[in-house]
Amino acid sequence: MKPASLIAYPAATACLILAASAAPRPLSDIIKAFDIHQLPLLTNPLVDMPSDESVSTGVIISDVIGKTQAIAIFSGLTRDIDPVSGRLDDASQNATVLAPDNGAMKNLKRKPWEDAEDYETFGAEAYKGQDGEDRAHKNLRRFVERHIVPESPWAEGKKVKTLHGNEIWWETKEGKKKIQPADIEVTSVADKVSNGQVWVIGGSLA
Ligand SMILES: *[C@@H]1O[C@H](CO)[C@@H](O)[C@H](O)[C@H]1NC(C)=O
Repeated sequence: MKPASLIAYPAATACLILAASAAPRPLSDIIKAFDIHQLPLLTNPLVDMPSDESVSTGVIISDVIGKTQAIAIFSGLTRDIDPVSGRLDDASQNATVLAPDNGAMKNLKRKPWEDAEDYETFGAEAYKGQDGEDRAHKNLRRFVERHIVPESPWAEGKKVKTLHGNEIWWETKEGKKKIQPADIEVTSVADKVSNGQVWVIGGSLA
């Protein structure tokens, strides 16, 4: 598209953007993407963590999580939650993202959009139809928000509330960072990021 046509139709462009962000990705697409990522990953998960050279050039959290293969499943989910993806894209808002690695996502007892209470209340059809989609989206949002700490740097031992509101902190045990109270190990950290850090964790805080 030529720049001239963007200038000529600013309202139309704005509408398109609004329409795109107003409609959440259908659950069937999310399930499909999730299943694709269940395939074994052959690449070395850590080779694509950001290098020192890219630091000063304004790399932000959304760039890092989008490129780190080890957390591809989780990062796909963050893009489905507009308030979260907006925040991770915003260079002026800091966060520490606790990203479960793909193994942790595969080992979840339930899919991140499922909730035991929904199945009790609505049965096997809990995620069918528009109401089901809304429930799935709400659960997905809760799952993702439980993994976002709205500050960085985040000091050891400091109790913070995630975007969802659950209280967590971290401490060092035998040389390893552990997220508490769940005692989940941090397996690698991307700290060359201008608006926070991405911590890869070997479990989930769901
Ligand atoms: C935001 O995060 C970066 C990277 O962790 C840090 O260098 C900077 O001091 C933080 N800014 C604020 C206002 O906390």
